[in-house]
Amino acid sequence: MDISLTDRFREKVKNASKILFFTGAGISAESGIPTFRGKDGIWNKLKPEELANFNAFLKNPDMVWNWYQHRRSIIHESQPNAGHIAIREFEKVFNEVTVVTQNVDNLHRRAGSKVVYELHGNIEKNYCIQCKKRYDDPSLAFIDSVPKCSECGGLIRPDVVWFGEMLPQDVFRISENAADLCDICFIVGTSSVVYPAAYIPITAKSSGAFLVEINIASTEISDQVDQSYFGKSGEILPDLLKAIMDERRN
Ligand code: OAD
Repeated sequence: MDISLTDRFREKVKNASKILFFTGAGISAESGIPTFRGKDGIWNKLKPEELANFNAFLKNPDMVWNWYQHRRSIIHESQPNAGHIAIREFEKVFNEVTVVTQNVDNLHRRAGSKVVYELHGNIEKNYCIQCKKRYDDPSLAFIDSVPKCSECGGLIRPDVVWFGEMLPQDVFRISENAADLCDICFIVGTSSVVYPAAYIPITAKSSGAFLVEINIASTEISDQVDQSYFGKSGEILPDLLKAIMDERRN
């Protein structure tokens, strides 16, 4: 794909040292992980409030646990795609590259990105709802019914943020700080409709960052960004990386 940079973007690329990627389910779509919204989104088939919340878990722990086991098995089989890899490679071009993701699939880390802030948790981790003991042993990913805590007998839940729950405040604060300081903010594969996560690019913009969106379709934030690239992130990001590397070399 031919990626062209506007004059303003070119200028930003030349002078930038800190960049931030704000990512959502779309970046992992080409790894075979379904997105939440849109044509093939899982929230079209399942109601989030029936599964992704604490009361649903208390009411029917095995059903919720099994749904997460299903998601884990998909993620377990999947690999980071060219989009995740390109984001890692941006570390060779800019001094500071921060990834703030809404995804729980761990694929940015598996791709080798060094600084990854997970706003909605990590599906490979778990903790006890009573005593909060952590259970990050990957073998739990293969148990069919909800396990009980070895310390207190409490139910063990996935370490993801459910509807109605707060984001991990330390992670959100550090992400907001990175957004405040970045020169360019890339918004990749997210519908940008879920708050407070969607404040991240807004914070970046209000602190003067240049916003670049990469998505297969326009979104809630499209009319606020400085540059849009429409297409699959696994195709656009490697080409964009190349164009930016060429620009920095000149
Ligand atoms: P969504 O499912 O809302 O949006 C996915 C976005 O990715 C859409 O804008 C698609 O157009 C775009 N997309 C799909 N395939 C793509 C591709 N190959 N390349 C580029 N873009 C692509 O997912 P999120 O924005 O991540 O929260 O959703 C935000 C949050 O809502 C999730 O973290 C989850 C969900 O409820 C919780 O579970 C707390």
